[in-house]
Amino acid sequence: MVIVFALFFGGYFIAHPQDFMTNAGGRNFISLNGKWQIIIDPYDAGAGDWKPVWRDQTASGKTDFYEYKFIDAVTLTVPGDWNSQNRELKYYEGTIWYKKTIRYQKKNKKKNFLYFSGVNYECDVYLNNEKLGSHEGGFTPFQFDITDKIKNGDNSIILRVNNTRRVDGIPAMNFDWWNYGGITRDVYLVETPESFIKDYFVQLAKNSKTEIKGWVALSTPAVKKVSVLIPELKIKYNTQTDGNGKALLKITAKPVLWSPRKPKLYTVIIKTETDSVRETIGFRNISVRGTDILLNGKSIFLKGINIHEEIPQRSGRAWSETDALQLLNWAKDLGCNFVRTAHYPHNEYMVRLAEKMGIMIWEEIPLWQGIQFTNPEILKKANRFLDEMIARDKNRCAVILWSLSNETTPSDSRNKTLAAMAAHARSLDSTRLITSAFNHVVYDKNTVTIEDPLSEALDVLAVNEYLGWYSQWRAKPEAMQWKSLYAKPLIMSEFGGEAMYGIHGSADTLSSWSEESQEKIYRDQVNMFKQIPFLRGTCPWILVDFRSPTRRHPVYQQGWNRKGLLGNNGLKKRAWYVMSEYYKEIDDK
Ligand code: GCU
Repeated sequence: MVIVFALFFGGYFIAHPQDFMTNAGGRNFISLNGKWQIIIDPYDAGAGDWKPVWRDQTASGKTDFYEYKFIDAVTLTVPGDWNSQNRELKYYEGTIWYKKTIRYQKKNKKKNFLYFSGVNYECDVYLNNEKLGSHEGGFTPFQFDITDKIKNGDNSIILRVNNTRRVDGIPAMNFDWWNYGGITRDVYLVETPESFIKDYFVQLAKNSKTEIKGWVALSTPAVKKVSVLIPELKIKYNTQTDGNGKALLKITAKPVLWSPRKPKLYTVIIKTETDSVRETIGFRNISVRGTDILLNGKSIFLKGINIHEEIPQRSGRAWSETDALQLLNWAKDLGCNFVRTAHYPHNEYMVRLAEKMGIMIWEEIPLWQGIQFTNPEILKKANRFLDEMIARDKNRCAVILWSLSNETTPSDSRNKTLAAMAAHARSLDSTRLITSAFNHVVYDKNTVTIEDPLSEALDVLAVNEYLGWYSQWRAKPEAMQWKSLYAKPLIMSEFGGEAMYGIHGSADTLSSWSEESQEKIYRDQVNMFKQIPFLRGTCPWILVDFRSPTRRHPVYQQGWNRKGLLGNNGLKKRAWYVMSEYYKEIDDK
């Protein structure tokens, strides 16, 4: 349950989950990364009442016994998915128990938090054999206040992690990526002052180049002086919080605006008498006008690429800054100024590094295809996932689009749920644009019409179409006419087809999995794009081959989706050069 407090300010409304600590990596923390002892528990036998694993008991006397034990010889590395660390766990779906013992010396006037950057899919967390709480959702951070529970000396942290797919999950039962389970991202023991800067929002006001608006929220409901320093702009803004520990910011400034060509970031220091948090923040405007997407008031074309959070050479989840650098360097090499971090919020390194590299981001929650929209719990869960994604990345200027879903089937319950989610996302942050990738378009000979009622709720339309692969051309690509019932910008958010790196053959036989057949799909797609007057971005599916249990061809796929412009060896297929040429031709002013 996320308790949300709401704050009206300057025409836009900011709300954020309480107890979320933004920028945990920028605080005082002890890393809990490394070897964790594990117990594999496929039937969740250790979660019941009979000698549960989280009690972590050891036999004593003659008749006592336990059918589990944490030992140093059986471990997994954290961060890291379990599927790629141990051949026996390649397809594993179920529970794995993790244990880490930390020695700690309590300090007075300090608070302690256990912070998890990401655990897939759900977990129960125990400290010294007492349950702290649970979290569902594999791609956003969560934390527990353990100030009154951590003790001097050894402390044991135990997690029950389960990645079994669920009909009421987000994502649900049948998604086209590997179901990597585990503690897949960084874990921190964070130390803060008793009264600390819990959260803040510091961005340019929606349509201003000289007004920084936002807020600062303290961990305690107290009136305290707050300063916001931006040394390079010679800004020392002083204010104070109200009785609830909240302060509104309204700072006049003339920052160099962030853009892909000039990804200018400023050091921003937020201080109180007892705490200080350092950030790097960029300032830019993003908006739409008719069918244009405007960055800092100028129409832009989003030269994008889809990316899954996976390092193909390791066949595992990406989680580190090094991993982020590999994926984003490939995107830069393709000529991109934009990435869609499919189909879930990627780790924070990806977002912060993209910002430094001048790459705009589309972020989304994993509301992917077969979702149980008739279940009222889904809206609550989806909104919580939005809360957690936006809470983490609301200060990242590179993020220009929040996306609600991927390829959900139009229905009353789906349309209502997504419209409510769009309103909720805007209530959290109306400085960014809202979109959602859908594939419900109407083909009639050479005409394609966008009429999905979901479009009403979006600032930017986004269509996944696979002309040339899943569906065939009804006319010559250059003769295709795209129409829309909505005067809004369009991003072609997915397109492409499969090829296995190094396979060469006829360009018109898809079952050849030849690079030439994929290349032809891309040439045809680019010829069509040039005819779409309201197209403002393209995102090929996908940067690099990725693992998926649904891709079963024993010769050409072997559990890999081969739509990458790069093979899983990281080498360029012929289609790469078609997109690279297309992006070179587009003048991004
Ligand atoms: C869909 C979906 C992707 C999937 C892709 C494919 O559009 O959004 O997640 O991987 O098509 O079929 O390869």
